[in-house]
Amino acid sequence: MTLIVTGGAGFIGANFIFYILERYPEDRVVCLDKLTYAGNLATLAPVMELPNFRFVQADICDREAVDRLLEEERPGAVVNFAAESHVDRSIDGPEVFLRTNVLGTAVLMDACRTHGLVRFHQVSTDEVYGDLPLDRPDLLFTEQTPLRASSPYSASKASADLLALAYHRTYGLPVTISRCSNNYGPYQFREKLIPLMISNALHDRPLPVYGSGLNVRDWLYVEDHCRAIDLILRRGRPGEVYNVGGHNEMRNIDIVKLICRELGKPESLITCVEDRKGHDLRYAIDPSKIWQQLGWKSETIFENGMRKTIQWYLDNKSWWARSNS
Ligand SMILES: NC(=O)c1ccc[n+]([C@@H]2O[C@H](COP(=O)([O-])OP(=O)(O)OC[C@H]3O[C@@H](n4cnc5c(N)ncnc54)[C@H](O)[C@@H]3O)[C@@H](O)[C@H]2O)c1
Repeated sequence: MTLIVTGGAGFIGANFIFYILERYPEDRVVCLDKLTYAGNLATLAPVMELPNFRFVQADICDREAVDRLLEEERPGAVVNFAAESHVDRSIDGPEVFLRTNVLGTAVLMDACRTHGLVRFHQVSTDEVYGDLPLDRPDLLFTEQTPLRASSPYSASKASADLLALAYHRTYGLPVTISRCSNNYGPYQFREKLIPLMISNALHDRPLPVYGSGLNVRDWLYVEDHCRAIDLILRRGRPGEVYNVGGHNEMRNIDIVKLICRELGKPESLITCVEDRKGHDLRYAIDPSKIWQQLGWKSETIFENGMRKTIQWYLDNKSWWARSNS
């Protein structure tokens, strides 16, 4: 089948493209990406010359460009990774988050609707559920947890999820949604916690940690996420939401200490900075639905995934050194 992958020049989208092209060499993958500051065409260099890969630079909000691509490619499915994805940027300037994450998703789905109800997968986030208290380890996000987004980023993703479910109910568009926890792995842009800490530590720069670093995230290796999306796309039930997470809760401060240990850097580099506005305390996913219905579970042990990730950043300095952010 032909897959249109939006946002494929970003972190998870690129890993997904590599995953699909390696696993299904008979599939065709078309990447549609606007190449914002977070998109990097160099990431896609390993697949750029493949006969079953095509890159198109376009904005998901551009209906004409999206229609043209659907007409040309007649895809079996569209997988939407394209988004503004950084919470801090959404606090500084929410508008572009609403435009891309809400309007852009609507444009894609409406084009899928008018081109013969093309299968659509929305890549969402556990952040749509808001946060959980630090002192209630028994509480986890299930697919029934009410949406209670905290930041303009998570509110824009929650809005897109609601719209996707409405497109399923109203028009019968075959939509699925995955809500995944925090990802880590190769090709993540340097503004995010793990690559930022690796690159700062390598330069002996301060390691800025929000508040006292006690906020908890549920970390998943990016390849495990790609495998989950692939399964949902091929075997998931339209109209359904699937939570994706690996039961791997870590405090931010412990991640930063682990990076210091792995790189042989002193913890004295860690600098606590003023907390993020509205900072979510804890995310934790209950992945039992995707395990019971599709047989997915996380395979990468955190310490191994982190070692692979750190090694990747050590081996690919030219990839991340291009930006100072
Ligand atoms: N990173 C995580 O930990 C995580 C966890 C759960 C869900 N998600 C979701 O996964 C998706 C991908 O996240 P990521 O971390 O790879 O993001 P990213 O910021 O690394 O990449 C986003 C990509 O989308 C492209 N893009 C942005 N606006 C666009 C537009 N208007 N039109 C076309 N392309 C556009 C960018 O150029 C970039 O290539 C997002 O939807 C995000 O909400 C991310």
